[in-house]
Amino acid sequence: MFEELKEQPADKILMLMQMYREDPREQKIDLGVGVYKNAEGVTPIMRAIKAAEKKWWEEETTKAYTGLAGDPAFSDAMIGLVLGDAVPRDNVAAVATPGGTGAVRQAFELVKMANPDLRVHVSDPTWPNHLSILKHLGIEAVPYRYFDEATCAVDFAGMMEDLEKVEAGDVVLLHGCCHNPTGANLNLTEFKAVIELMNAKGALPMIDIAYQGFGDGLDVDALATREVASSCPETLIAASCSKNFGIYRERTGLLMAVSQDGSKQKAAQGNLAYLNRQNYSFPPDHGARLVTLVLNDDALRADWQAELEEVRNGMLGLREQLASEMQRLTGSDRYGFIAQHRGMFSRLGLSPEIVETLRKDHGIYMVGDSRINIAGLNKETVPILAKAIVEAGG
Ligand code: LMR
Repeated sequence: MFEELKEQPADKILMLMQMYREDPREQKIDLGVGVYKNAEGVTPIMRAIKAAEKKWWEEETTKAYTGLAGDPAFSDAMIGLVLGDAVPRDNVAAVATPGGTGAVRQAFELVKMANPDLRVHVSDPTWPNHLSILKHLGIEAVPYRYFDEATCAVDFAGMMEDLEKVEAGDVVLLHGCCHNPTGANLNLTEFKAVIELMNAKGALPMIDIAYQGFGDGLDVDALATREVASSCPETLIAASCSKNFGIYRERTGLLMAVSQDGSKQKAAQGNLAYLNRQNYSFPPDHGARLVTLVLNDDALRADWQAELEEVRNGMLGLREQLASEMQRLTGSDRYGFIAQHRGMFSRLGLSPEIVETLRKDHGIYMVGDSRINIAGLNKETVPILAKAIVEAGG
């Protein structure tokens, strides 16, 4: 039977990871996959996570199953982190999922159960795995304009024009903050205009928030998500703990279904638990436990927030440095957007040929659409990248 299986397209980001690993050159720079690295190129375990892990190792007495939705304390802690007090807790159904990707997948499955013919409107571009999961589930993805290639900023007029085509029952997928892959983000006023449009059309917003705390701070990064959740009749939110808690391989995420009318919470909760059971039964617990311990302990939480701020400010510093280095070398402000973008990524607007030259001639790896992971740089490699971009014709 296996001979019937077709070869699947390779994931471009994961393929790049592999190519980088296999490159024997000593002087190489990995700006590919979205994993935070410090100035030494290490993805550290955050201090509070390490402390929580030690504590849990001492306290844990059983490995018996939790619940289908995961430990309710994890849901409570994460709902607090993402939504603050924007909506009453009783209006939120939630399940723990294997990573933010698990939450995205479960969200798409949930809406398909409710409306088998739905379409999902996605930013052009979006995280490639959004498109790949939608395709796998047989859900139509409809791109809306998002990125202005000339200015590397959001094409808000184009976005609104395209969203005019949204129909009742459609889903609009939005990035809560730190847009992946572009780094260009809507401001709150623009988000409010999108909310108004979605409500007028009767569309369901779905927010993917995978980088809370990497942009302008934990609360500021959640403002748009909170605004949507408190202004739309129903909202789906896929949150990831991979990046802001640095627990990538623990696969820790939460899917939230918010309804203004609390009476829908029970139906949503039941269906989310059902979906967990069908797909993998109980969600992983270890990462969720660590997150819960950190968020519910004042000292650990303060230390986690302080370390997250160091990470965020480090990336902002690298953005400033790269933007000014490009300004110095090109004598123009056309790369000024790098300092305006937020989060782990910036799409530089370089041609595929330049991206290829950078890889071949300079050992600099970025995604084919010229997305760079800012955290793959350090103070020493920023000038190397800038010089290579200019040499390659960027
Ligand atoms: C990325 O966009 O690089 C990350 O979200 C990692 C991944 O799984 O693609």
